[in-house]
Amino acid sequence: MTRPDPVVRPRFGILASGRGSNAARLMDAFAAGEAPGLAAVVVSDVEGAPVLELAAARGVPALAIPRRGLPRREHEDRVLAELARHRVEHLLLAGYMRVLTPQFLALFPGRVLNIHPSLLPAFPGLDAARRQWEAGLPRVGATVHLVDAGVDTGPVLLQGELAVRGDEGPEGLARRILTEVEHQIYPKAVRLFVEGLPARTEANLP
Ligand code: GRF
Repeated sequence: MTRPDPVVRPRFGILASGRGSNAARLMDAFAAGEAPGLAAVVVSDVEGAPVLELAAARGVPALAIPRRGLPRREHEDRVLAELARHRVEHLLLAGYMRVLTPQFLALFPGRVLNIHPSLLPAFPGLDAARRQWEAGLPRVGATVHLVDAGVDTGPVLLQGELAVRGDEGPEGLARRILTEVEHQIYPKAVRLFVEGLPARTEANLP
């Protein structure tokens, strides 16, 4: 009897600059099978970023490639070399504070996801939670989208929202968006993304 080929899991690279709560959530979701795929490597542009520890604690290869002192293209080339070494096919940006160049993105067409703490296209850019708080909105949320050359632009994959109570304050609201929305929708968006990929087995790998 021939056994069916085992399905080959898509390999994700995670790019993150700091705290790493979304990255940790994604690594845990891959490990639990909640998101299909595996975290092949975590790369940070910041030396000593907490996300690196979170990855190491989970047995995921992780390294910093500090941007400081490097021209942008050279930094990207170094990141690309690491992604290639770990055979990364798709990228998840999780608080990665760099805009990727069109040349970089061309190597991952339609294969880079980002999460942003607002209901895009509203409130792109930095400090989105605080600005939403100050706007006094009744509902706020977060968005997972495909990345293009803009800042927090590109087709939306999934959004989630919550009702603002009004007593959170800007930091409390940021925390609520992070834990109640971002950490819920990112693994789900990864699942949707993978379900949209062509099915692969070891037999049809290039
Ligand atoms: C999150 O709010 C994410 O939406 C934004 O940057 C923040 C990163 O937080 N892009 P963390 O490092 O994942 O905890």
